[in-house]
Amino acid sequence: MMQLIKSAAEMQQEADRIRTAQRKIGLVPTMGFLHAGHLKLIEEARTSCDVVIVSIYVNPTQFAPNEDFSRYPRDFERDKTMAQNSQVDILFCPENEEMYGDDFGTYVEEQEVSRILEGKFRPTHYRGVATVVAKLFNICKPHVAVFGQKDAQQVFIVSKMVRDLNFDVTIVVVPIVREPDGLAMSSRNVYLSSADRKNALVLHEALASLERRIRNGERDVRVLRSEAENMILGKGSPSIDYVAFVDPDEFREIDRIVKPSVLVALAARFSGTRLIDNALISLDEH
Ligand code: PAJ
Repeated sequence: MMQLIKSAAEMQQEADRIRTAQRKIGLVPTMGFLHAGHLKLIEEARTSCDVVIVSIYVNPTQFAPNEDFSRYPRDFERDKTMAQNSQVDILFCPENEEMYGDDFGTYVEEQEVSRILEGKFRPTHYRGVATVVAKLFNICKPHVAVFGQKDAQQVFIVSKMVRDLNFDVTIVVVPIVREPDGLAMSSRNVYLSSADRKNALVLHEALASLERRIRNGERDVRVLRSEAENMILGKGSPSIDYVAFVDPDEFREIDRIVKPSVLVALAARFSGTRLIDNALISLDEH
């Protein structure tokens, strides 16, 4: 039987009971509208933990006023059934008043990586993410928390926050789960028209093509970027926010590939729907 908890205080008491019983807690933070990507995270948590908590909370502080907070897809009954079927032990779904009271005023802000790539286009986004993840860690008291590589920058920032603030939590990362045709799974994919849904495949195709070009020896980021951008623009002329080449250890943009692996991260908008994707490319084939 899955437990449904809405109150932070009750969740903390339950987490204390679980810890006292020497059982290991795994947390999978989500904003709901669950898909196979989320389920993979839940499966991963299950492999190393006795009790799996999934949080469902569409966190208002990580959305800018002009973003899709109010229309973000929500279907609690469907999520509940999916969580139950995935043997989730506790579903933690707090209300806004529970998470951010009227007098709320303390934020967690990573100050470097939060400013580049996604952070340039969404300046307050990672402050909202870091703050809510810190709160979820304090509420659910997990030993392990599982995140998806789909949001590579988010994983980096959360891991940095854990180190910087000494959270006693192990971060586990799960590779990107894709639709059979290659589109990275996302709750936001439901926004896409059928034409945009087809055009959006170019994001994954561009990453695959970059991987081939890099493996074949191209090291100049300017050359690689313009090839990828042309390829993406050829499919319905989406608006490209960035195609970035990142040192995966430091999460800094590079202009020439010298290390044995490079993270290519991109963001583009198809008729207003903003999609992100990325690939960690290693130079030698294996
Ligand atoms: P959400 O977009 O619901 O994603 C929840 C978790 O699922 C994140 O760790 C995300 O990286 C992972 N995920 C999403 N799509 C995935 C895919 N195709 N493959 C693998 N993992 C995938 O990310 C958030 O929510 C929020 O920012 C949150 C961390 C919950 C804080 O509010």
